[in-house]
Amino acid sequence: MCGIVGAVAQRNITPVLVEGLKLLEYRGYDSCGVALHVDGKLQRLRSTSRVADLEKQVKEIELSGFTGIAHTRWATHGAPASHNAHPHFSRERIALVHNGIIENHDELRAELTAAGYKFESQTDTEVIAHLIDHLYTGDLFETVQQATKHLAGAYAIAVFSRDEPHRVVGARQGSPLIVGVGKGENFLASDAMALAGTTDQIIYLEDGDVVDLQLQRYWINDKEGKPVQREVRTVHAHTGAAELGPYRHFMQKEIFEQPRAIGDTLEGVTGIMPELFGDQAYRTFKQIDSVLILACGTSYYAGVTAKYWIESLAQVPVNVEIASEYRYRDSVPNPNALVVTISQSGETADTLAALKHARSLGMQHTLTICNVATSAMVRECAMAYITRAGIEVGVASTKAFTTQLAALFLLALALAQTKGRLTEEQEAQHLKAMRHLPTALAAVLALEPQIIAWADLFARKENALFLGRGLHYPIALEGALKLKEISYIHAEAYPAGELKHGPLALVTEEMPVVTVAPNDALIEKLKSNMHEVRARGGQLYVFADADSHIEASEDVHVLRLPGHYGLLSPVLHTVPLQLLAYHTALARGTDVDKPRNLAKSVTVE
Ligand code: M6R
Repeated sequence: MCGIVGAVAQRNITPVLVEGLKLLEYRGYDSCGVALHVDGKLQRLRSTSRVADLEKQVKEIELSGFTGIAHTRWATHGAPASHNAHPHFSRERIALVHNGIIENHDELRAELTAAGYKFESQTDTEVIAHLIDHLYTGDLFETVQQATKHLAGAYAIAVFSRDEPHRVVGARQGSPLIVGVGKGENFLASDAMALAGTTDQIIYLEDGDVVDLQLQRYWINDKEGKPVQREVRTVHAHTGAAELGPYRHFMQKEIFEQPRAIGDTLEGVTGIMPELFGDQAYRTFKQIDSVLILACGTSYYAGVTAKYWIESLAQVPVNVEIASEYRYRDSVPNPNALVVTISQSGETADTLAALKHARSLGMQHTLTICNVATSAMVRECAMAYITRAGIEVGVASTKAFTTQLAALFLLALALAQTKGRLTEEQEAQHLKAMRHLPTALAAVLALEPQIIAWADLFARKENALFLGRGLHYPIALEGALKLKEISYIHAEAYPAGELKHGPLALVTEEMPVVTVAPNDALIEKLKSNMHEVRARGGQLYVFADADSHIEASEDVHVLRLPGHYGLLSPVLHTVPLQLLAYHTALARGTDVDKPRNLAKSVTVE
């Protein structure tokens, strides 16, 4: 999603701005731009292509300056066109970039138009530039504090003025913004990653903060307008992981990294201990009587899987809520619930807002399963378990999902233990199975050649159904999401028993039906559902395991995962579905790592 980089320095800052945008590219964007203070004027370049194109333009005109801002845009208001790309200018005096959505932009636009401002874009962002210009007193820091009082919605902004050459001002409300502290130079960014290699001294701004960056100093006022000190942390945002190595795409690399990612996530787990989730976890787990899981997309499906595990192992009731729905509906709060947010990025706006909503309803026991230790989600939750997937670049989540599953299985066991529902023998068995996961995953990855053959058949289809039962229903959901996300094939997932209640009407010989079919307690029920498909001519593509006893035939393609993995089977069965989506997308020639219309980190509503 949108990315911000800003800088005030005593050297040409253009390479830092462009490099920062490159490091944010993985989040997804459709246009980009940069503006600098050059010889008493504002100068801007924009592109609806890649950052590489912007960099080419920068080199062609030798754009150079000491103060500047840059942006990658993911369109919300107005098409991905050059005139809508940031930075936006007002009267050749104010330059501004923005992440988020201004909800009262129509109203502000009308007021500013009446005041004589001409709008060049359809964006909600341009109103902020004009508003700041309209209120400008000659002191940008003071003006931005006044301007933010007129804004409703979510924003992170970076702005500079032609009239104050060594100053950049930032403000945040609901969208992330950080300060990078340098020596005689200071920076702003939407993510510490953008400043990797520039500075590792990072301040995480809080909602309502406005920051004044100058060469030798920075100054922060909080939402009340009072000066505030925020902790400077040393953050080692590393860029090394953003290299492809021998792989063709990041998604492929990340699928194959899963044995390592799960091994790292479970490293140091020598026994089941609530303390793995934080010092206060034992006391909290004793106290809680239910779990409320909040998440979006793939992370939501990890939550649905966790419901099966937690209810079965710990016998604690679990509600799983799509964060964007939960935050806006009337619900019945339970102060004794453990609120668990699940997020790869830790910056998903809907999940953060749902967490705040739960807290506002009196639910204070909060835990996050998150892949980014420095994220807002980790800072906002009382307890955290950091998955160690490493940076995930592909928009389609892969290793983040399976590491979330590993952490959630551990949570189910820790809750079971605290509630007195886990014997020592069971603990030892589950630990053994978890330690075996990296090896088992490597064996599943070896099935890739057979999956490529299936993908060639899939690439010619426009629709697919995914079926699973019980613990494997959320895995079917995740498989369908992966396929639609990157291959643009319409895919839906159903719990197989639901087929006859509607979706069976879609089944013809043209419909591939992917079935997740390990030998679990529901396998015989699932086989009956598969017969229903075959009787209508549907083509079955079955991911079975060593014990499933499903025979292949002309219409029944069977791929057998080695071994049988019991309760951990969802982790293993995810992998062939990821590979199927990846190779189908490859055969269709789509942009696998940056699928159309999608962003990696969804920091707006
Ligand atoms: O960073 P998060 O885990 O909070 O992101 C949630 C979703 O946006 C994310 O899982 C999305 O659905 C992925 N593109 C799925 O591959």
